Amino acid sequence: MTAENTQPWWQRAVFYQIYPRSFKDANGDGIGDLAGIIENLDYLKGKPDSLGVDALWLSPVYPSPQHDFGYDIKDYRNIDPLFGDLATFQKLLKEAHARDIKVVMDLVVNHTSWEHPWFRESRSSRDSPKRDWYIWRDGEGDGPPNNWRSLFGGPAWQWDEQSQQYYLHLFLKEQPDLNWRNPEVQEAIWEIMRYWLEMGVDGFRLDVYNFYFKDATLRSNPRRRSLRGLFYAYEGQHHIYDQDQPEMYGALAKMREIVDSYPGDRMLVGETSTIDNFQQAYSYYGQDHDGLNLVFNFEFLNSRWRAKDFRQAIIHWQQHAPNWSWPTWVLSNHDVIRHFTRYAQKGVGHLRARVAASMLLTLKGTPFLYYGDEIGMREGRLSRSMIQDPPGKKFWPFFRGRDGCRTPMQWTAGEQAGFSTVRPWLPINKDKKTVNVESEQQNEQSLFQYYQRLIALRKNTPALLSGALHLLDNTPEQTLVYHRSLGDDTLWIALNFSQRKTTISLNFSETMEVVLATHHPEGHTFSPGSLKLEPDEALICRKSK
Ligand code: GLC
Repeated sequence: MTAENTQPWWQRAVFYQIYPRSFKDANGDGIGDLAGIIENLDYLKGKPDSLGVDALWLSPVYPSPQHDFGYDIKDYRNIDPLFGDLATFQKLLKEAHARDIKVVMDLVVNHTSWEHPWFRESRSSRDSPKRDWYIWRDGEGDGPPNNWRSLFGGPAWQWDEQSQQYYLHLFLKEQPDLNWRNPEVQEAIWEIMRYWLEMGVDGFRLDVYNFYFKDATLRSNPRRRSLRGLFYAYEGQHHIYDQDQPEMYGALAKMREIVDSYPGDRMLVGETSTIDNFQQAYSYYGQDHDGLNLVFNFEFLNSRWRAKDFRQAIIHWQQHAPNWSWPTWVLSNHDVIRHFTRYAQKGVGHLRARVAASMLLTLKGTPFLYYGDEIGMREGRLSRSMIQDPPGKKFWPFFRGRDGCRTPMQWTAGEQAGFSTVRPWLPINKDKKTVNVESEQQNEQSLFQYYQRLIALRKNTPALLSGALHLLDNTPEQTLVYHRSLGDDTLWIALNFSQRKTTISLNFSETMEVVLATHHPEGHTFSPGSLKLEPDEALICRKSK
């Protein structure tokens, strides 16, 4: 067997995150749904003009009052009628699996919806058998039990008139936090996992898992001096008591044991919210394969368009993650400004998008794409009246919220961009005429076709799937150069983050040949000892045979 096919699928896969509300509306209500995803599975994999991705992560599709668009779940064992029903979900699983596409669900169990029967019961009285399933406390003096803040603004405690106590919510008040210290809660969560694993899902993305446990005595967080803290009180504290408690390790080990008890390499990928401590974040891989299979590495979300920022992120990974663990790379998701827009500068946005994609798909580790990245979707521009995201509404004008990265997928240049037959829940981006699947699939020069080529190259190149990564030192400023090697194959990746031509000297004197590049044609050879990069170019080369 060759080295690459001993790797579990989640190390080889290119993941594609779908925000179901915004992918494709099949039933004409303006909101995307499961049937819309099924209709477009061929777009994702299996046909000559498919993108070629291998695994889907679906943002939540469970029944929910949608205060946080599904991240507030009221029934963990069903599908929201907005998106379809269980039968449609099973059809999606079957159709995806028939195309060798894995399906990973979002598991949101730090909190439930306040409409979940568990919370209704818990709230009904202080003596309720489910009272202790959530975190209820008396106040301190006239105020809440401690100084914790919600990430979405305001105190993390909500006074409940009926039962005369406060409950904890680290997000919206409509999202009460579960009490993970209660063994019954844990057991209920294990059962939910088994339910979906038995149905055939391939794994879970764990939403804000590092918040599950809180300090047993709910101590107040110490204050932290920070400029941002003046505008956003959450940043004005050191979060030592409301997250990252040591009990996490046992819980993750149990979750891992559950997924591992099913055949087919089921997996867990965890969203480590608020990471600024890499060591802490990467400790959730566990001691020795007994934690998460994958921990999201969000450092690129904060990298500016500078080679040294990306280089630093790669080095942080190498320094802090256990040496046996497998990396992940993320440029965009449903919570941040789309990277096309983050990096766009007049005239070169589409070039930078290619450099970014080249990096994401050639680094060692599992890349996560976000729907629309492949066609170069920009952050949507919304006026105040159009804003739907609750934190967006609250913090306007300082923060426009997260709607901009959730605008409908642009399938065609036509009415509603082919997303829906009616006005969608969020406005379609104005650039749909040029930025859309249909026209990019037909255009050899498109970003979509570049993504297709990159993904295919990755899939067919064992060195890119599993080879060692070596960063080159002393390359010109604004370039990032590394190689990936396995056995006797080595691929060299050179990325130019500047708008100037540049030459990279190599310390050997063989001729290099282009495998895939943004500017140079495939097969182009460079004279021995150097690579030449055009402005904003991404180059993938091999030594000439
Ligand atoms: C995660 C999700 C985000 C959600 C929050 C609360 O950060 O990615 O969208 O609002 O958790 O569940």
